[in-house]
Amino acid sequence: MKFFLDTAMIEEIKQAKAWGFLDGITTNPSLAAKTGRPFEDLAKEILKIVAPAPVSLEVVATDVDGMIREGLNLAQWGINVVVKIPMTEAGMAATQTLSQKHGIRINVTLVFSANQAILAAKAGASYVSPFIGRLDDVGQDGMKLIAEIVDIYKNYSFSTQVLVASVRHPMHVTEAARLGAHVATMPFGVLRQLFKHPLTDKGLAAFLEDWKKVPAPAKQPQTSKV
Ligand code: E4P
Repeated sequence: MKFFLDTAMIEEIKQAKAWGFLDGITTNPSLAAKTGRPFEDLAKEILKIVAPAPVSLEVVATDVDGMIREGLNLAQWGINVVVKIPMTEAGMAATQTLSQKHGIRINVTLVFSANQAILAAKAGASYVSPFIGRLDDVGQDGMKLIAEIVDIYKNYSFSTQVLVASVRHPMHVTEAARLGAHVATMPFGVLRQLFKHPLTDKGLAAFLEDWKKVPAPAKQPQTSKV
């Protein structure tokens, strides 16, 4: 299973890379806004840091021609750009043109139903992003949607990867892995939580305390030099 970081914060990206658990990045306009930096500069820095791992950059046009124009421009910013396109009628037309005619990898975002995921796969998306946390927030079962999409994609051998998005806690990651989702994209805090268990901390503290009781090695007798 691949771990993507859902962030535009450079320090978080560098830390995850240093840990060796960074298979890609997803961004969106809200995450970009939090950095307070011009988007092109920011995106190019991220692309360079993580290359050749994929970085999803989202279009903000809402009409087909605008999305295609923006997608073609974004794709020139690095070899590892994945263009992120929202699940709309215009978005699906743009996805087909960008993926099939131009060979650009597309991540279809804001997916909340299995039928939307089928459309994304048929349009030629490389990734589909179901937002499970936002479904949970409105009282629907986000993880059930992941199970449905994984099943359906297997039925038809779709090559689109299921990218579990809007991940809020470590259990989302565990469940996504159990269901066989290809990717989970998560905030930095969730990635850090994956390392943690209170019994690990408690066990390590006890081992280090006990180690202090282990006798030091006996001193070697001095041998006189001839
Ligand atoms: C995914 O690509 C999105 O950027 C992200 O996962 C949205 O998450 P949120 O619902 O926490 O904003």
